[in-house]
Amino acid sequence: MKDNYIIAIDGPSGSGKSTISKKLAEKLNIEYLNTGSMYRAVTKYFLDNDIKKTDHIDFSKVFCKIKIKFDNNRIYLNDKDITDEIRNDMITKNVSWVSSIREVREFLVDSQRQIAKDSSFILDGRDIATVVFPDARYKFYLTASPRVRAQRRFDQGELDKSIDEIEKDIIKRDEYDSTRAYSPLKKAKDAIEIDSSKLTIDQTIALIIKKMEEKDAL
Ligand code: DC
Repeated sequence: MKDNYIIAIDGPSGSGKSTISKKLAEKLNIEYLNTGSMYRAVTKYFLDNDIKKTDHIDFSKVFCKIKIKFDNNRIYLNDKDITDEIRNDMITKNVSWVSSIREVREFLVDSQRQIAKDSSFILDGRDIATVVFPDARYKFYLTASPRVRAQRRFDQGELDKSIDEIEKDIIKRDEYDSTRAYSPLKKAKDAIEIDSSKLTIDQTIALIIKKMEEKDAL
């Protein structure tokens, strides 16, 4: 049996990371952690407790009160299932500033390392290969053009906005995520970049598995 291993999948929002990671984890029969959902959970806690960007925050006190758990691909914040709620527009609008706070990142990176320390895992996010698991066995950077990503979001049901508006939001969030001071979104030097603009989900998964096999053969 193969030793435990980590697959790191980073990339901008809407690049298909979570759909692909989830399916790939099922195929390989390993665990999956969607780290974006953890930043969304902390954002929900901040909004619920009226913690604002401009507040002076006592992080050690705040983090003591935040318990994030996963069960069956559902995420729980202090024992409440928040899986669906964290996808709403309010959380999506606020998650960028919350995830740019150094203390929030340190808190969550630490939890992510703890969660994935004893078994094989796929983690998807923005800083998995650069910060969380720089020694991950397999590293991928998934991209797609902003237009294609906007079209996917639209097809998934984000119907209250036009494709142009979704595309504008995506470009704005990319800019914010890749220029923030702490762990900005960027491709790790040794990550394999995959542009999924012209690929289906299954084609992308097949390509990732091929690249993993090529690496194993080295
Ligand atoms: O993948 P997502 O769209 O659900 O992520 C939500 C936000 O969380 C995104 O704006 C960037 C941030 N994020 C991050 O900074 N680092 C990660 N590892 C994962 C997500």
